[in-house]
Amino acid sequence: MALLPIIWAPDPVLKAKCASVPDVDDELRRLMDDMLATMYAAPGVGLAAPQVGVLKRLIVIDVSDKDKPRSPLQLVNPTIVAVSDELQIYEEGCLSLPDLFADVERPRAVTVAYLDRDGEERKIDAEDVLAVCLQHEIDHLDGVLFTDHLSALKRNMFMKKMVKAKKVRANDHAA
Ligand code: NI
Repeated sequence: MALLPIIWAPDPVLKAKCASVPDVDDELRRLMDDMLATMYAAPGVGLAAPQVGVLKRLIVIDVSDKDKPRSPLQLVNPTIVAVSDELQIYEEGCLSLPDLFADVERPRAVTVAYLDRDGEERKIDAEDVLAVCLQHEIDHLDGVLFTDHLSALKRNMFMKKMVKAKKVRANDHAA
């Protein structure tokens, strides 16, 4: 398995709308395994394909506790088919915006339809942290970041911090 470089915001790739995946094949399974390895190494609880520069509707998630066995999810073409009326506020972060966190309000529960790694149609009912993570990652497939759910003031502040962080990273790589 390979670790993939994670793209940091702001970047046009993170604002793009991703294409549906027509077939789940070995190449796609390999990509999803690499995405999971990249997510665990980061470490993070979710990763969407555009964050590694692939504009396909693919996400990986694992919200299990650190001291529990891993329970990875790999979702192809995930679609939210139902949401709860009840909302919850949860502090979100993103591997494309390292070290930045903010409260985001979203539905507390969702139902998501998707294809699994064998191409089988599946549905998952999720609430709380898993529901947050699914909505956050599916947002990525439509070019939406968690900062897009914040006020313009806060979003601009975060993006300024990211522009600085990217400069520092570029200089580190050049050195
Ligand atoms: Ni994210």
